[in-house]
Amino acid sequence: MNYFLIIHNILRWAVLLFGVWALINALTGVFSKRNYTGSDNKTGLFFMISCDIQLLLGLILYFNGAWFDKIKAGMGVVMKNPYDRFFAVEHALMMIIAWLLVHIGRSMVKRSDIDTQKHKRSLIYFGIALVLILAMIPWPFRAGIGRQWFPQF
Ligand code: HEM
Repeated sequence: MNYFLIIHNILRWAVLLFGVWALINALTGVFSKRNYTGSDNKTGLFFMISCDIQLLLGLILYFNGAWFDKIKAGMGVVMKNPYDRFFAVEHALMMIIAWLLVHIGRSMVKRSDIDTQKHKRSLIYFGIALVLILAMIPWPFRAGIGRQWFPQF
C-alpha cells in the first residue's frame, strides 16, 4: 500500500476546500468592498499550506515511483504515451505552476496596504491557480487518466 499516494489523494479535497473558500472570500471582498480581515488571511494561508504539503507528497511520488525511471529511460517514449505524459509531465508541471501562483499571490497580497487591492490580487492569483488545479486533477471521468474520487483500500 502506497501511503503517500493515499494522502496525496485525500489532501486534494483540502486543497480544493481552502481554494474555493479563499476564492469566495476574494469575490465577496471585491464586490462588497469590505475590509480584508484576519479570516481572509488565514484561509489564504491554509490554501498555501495544503498546496505545499501536496507538492511535497507529489515530489516523493514522482522521484520514488516509476515515473522518474520512465523519464530517465527516454522522454520520447513518455511523450508518446498519453497516460505517462499526463502524470510524468503535465500533472507535475502544471501543479508546480499552480503552487507558484499561490505563493506569488500570497506575497502580492501581503505587499499591498489597500484592502480592495488585496482582495483583487487574491482573486486573480488564487483564481488562476484553482482553475489549473481543477484541470490537472485526474478525475475519475477523465478518459485514459482517471483515478478514484477517494483512495481504495
Ligand atoms: C495541488 C496540487 C496537486 C493535486 C491536487 C494533486 C492531485 C493528485 C491526485 C488526485 C492524484 C491521483 C491519486 C490516486 O491515484 O489515488 C495524483 C497523482 C499523482 N500526482 Fe499529484 N497533485 C498535486 C500536485 C502534484 C505535484 C506538484 C506532483 C509532482 C511534482 C504530483 C505528482 C503526482 C504523481 C507522480 C501522481 C501519480 C502517482 C502514482 O500513480 O504513483 N502531484 N495527484
